Amino acid sequence: MTLRSLVAAAALAAACVAPASAQDKVRGAALAQVCGVCHGAEGISRNREIPSLAGQQAGFITVQMILIREGIRNVPAMRPFAAGLADKDIEDLSAYFASLAPGFPPDIRPRDAAQADRGQALIGPRNCAVCHQASLHGRDQVPRITSQREDWLVHAMIGYRDGTRIGADPQMNGAVVGLSDFDIAALAHYLAHRE
Ligand code: HEC
Ligand code: HEC
Repeated sequence: MTLRSLVAAAALAAACVAPASAQDKVRGAALAQVCGVCHGAEGISRNREIPSLAGQQAGFITVQMILIREGIRNVPAMRPFAAGLADKDIEDLSAYFASLAPGFPPDIRPRDAAQADRGQALIGPRNCAVCHQASLHGRDQVPRITSQREDWLVHAMIGYRDGTRIGADPQMNGAVVGLSDFDIAALAHYLAHRE
């Protein structure tokens, strides 16, 4: 699907959100129906350059949604869906996506051992685990970066390196400074295949 047709399909799903229930995760699941059009029904994205959200850190999702809602992180495709959300809606959505099991997308590229090894060799020298944890599953406002779409990881790291992605803090921009496209592709390939 094109991004344009995804936006139209998501607008339709947004009209069908169930009324609020007491339980946060359950309420989050109802609100998340609109998100599934782009981010995948179980939070595992089938769309190029749209991140999976399953098993993502709740704190990270909350902060990024607020950045997107306020227009600080510029995501035109998502603006209409973030715009009307209250902070409580965002927290419930985050609790829901954090509770889902992460997984590999069905269109994952076969693993290339040489490329994955090159990527893995950069993790230590670049201190990725210092912030993203030894598991690389993240914590609080620092995201999980494993079992993520490879094309998305490339897109995200290039955005930080080239200064086109403005995050909650500039730490990531420093972490990828000076990496070549070749290095970024290797890192993404390694991370995309790691649980
Ligand atoms: C029309 C498609 C579309 C819909 C609907 C949509 N998103 Fe997104 N979302 C995107 C795209 C595209 C990006 C990547 C933005 C970028 O390039 O920075 C994104 C990024 C995100 C991110 C940042 C994740 C990360 O790893 O950096 C979060 C969190 C998010 N979306 C949550 C949601 C939630 C929650 C909903 C439902 C309320 C939703 N999205 C609905 C397209 C969509
Ligand atoms: C000094 C701490 C720090 C280091 C070191 C670091 N990161 Fe990050 N990383 C962060 C933070 C904080 C964010 C969220 C920033 C934001 O708000 O956009 C992030 C975001 C990311 C994202 C975006 C994920 C998404 O779905 O949007 C990727 C990919 C990433 N880091 C990969 C890496 C890799 C690979 C390394 C090592 C080469 C690394 N990081 C090193 C702190 C760090």
